[in-house]
Amino acid sequence: MEQTQTPVKKQRILSGIQPTGTPTLGNYIGAMRNWKLLEDEYDCLYMVADLHTITVRQEPAKFRQNAMQMLGLLLASGLDPEKSVLFFQSHVHQHAELAWLLNCYTYMGEMNRMTQFKDKSAKHADNINCGLFTYPVLMAGDILLYQANLVPVGKDQMQHLEICRDIAQRVNGVYGNVFTVPEGYYSKVGARVMSLQEPTRKMSKSEAEDSFISVLDTPDVIRRKYRRAVTDSEACVRFDPEKQPGVSNLLSIIAALTGEDIEKVTASFEGKGYGDLKSAVTDVTIETLAPIQAEFARIMKDKKYMESVYRQGAERAGMLAERTLQKLMKKIGYVAK
Ligand code: TRP
Repeated sequence: MEQTQTPVKKQRILSGIQPTGTPTLGNYIGAMRNWKLLEDEYDCLYMVADLHTITVRQEPAKFRQNAMQMLGLLLASGLDPEKSVLFFQSHVHQHAELAWLLNCYTYMGEMNRMTQFKDKSAKHADNINCGLFTYPVLMAGDILLYQANLVPVGKDQMQHLEICRDIAQRVNGVYGNVFTVPEGYYSKVGARVMSLQEPTRKMSKSEAEDSFISVLDTPDVIRRKYRRAVTDSEACVRFDPEKQPGVSNLLSIIAALTGEDIEKVTASFEGKGYGDLKSAVTDVTIETLAPIQAEFARIMKDKKYMESVYRQGAERAGMLAERTLQKLMKKIGYVAK
């Protein structure tokens, strides 16, 4: 007998990135670039996590500019708004609402052991606000609102994903099946990009200017930063993150950007010196970023297009979010509207 094929429902992915300034090459390699690779296989929602951002004080004009810039960069790095839902977290009011509800199912003790809270409160000792404390609950809500199956996150967010799972399971335990319990999605090609000045630390835009490449750096700036990048005095190009962290970092960047494996990249420098390595990593970085920068400049001028993307994104996200929020509110016992 002839069988009709039922289409397989795609797994859902949700991820977010904060608009805290121009992303680094590390953010591009570790997050933004991978998001695009998931677009066809999964049902993806990607948001600019602008509610999280005000846990640290922001200058309004700059904040608004950073948020638009982040959306522009996501589009410029190739995300297709017809395939993925792209939106600003703040445009979907259900995020803030679910965060409140989930706050009442989360314990102080759980939040107290979050390492990012401890780090951030040490760093911003003059502004240890309640939002910073309950940040992981907002993030849990982001994920649970969409019944996401998978969440691409870096190592620094694993603890937050764990607590999201705990909260989901707790709520499900009380009310029956409300939430999909999400899993982490760890990309196979997720090279960890290190600081150019202190290559045992992660590349970060909050460190010294010369220690990171920003995705909007001009070719001259990129050249200068790599020229100054820390290597060592061993004078041979080997992949050995323990003994030669600086050199290994440059090799990993080349591997990540060319898609070649690290052994092959390393072998191509046999008999060559650090100058050759630096000029190769400079070239491939400039080649990768140039088309993104050109597309970014074009898109940012097209305000109408940007607006249509984030409005459509908020509408699609909002419909999904509302469904989950209503489901939970009914289970909790709220009077229906
Ligand atoms: N907290 C994440 C970060 O700073 C960003 C984020 C917010 C996020 N909500 C999310 C990531 C939901 C994944 C899923 O990197």
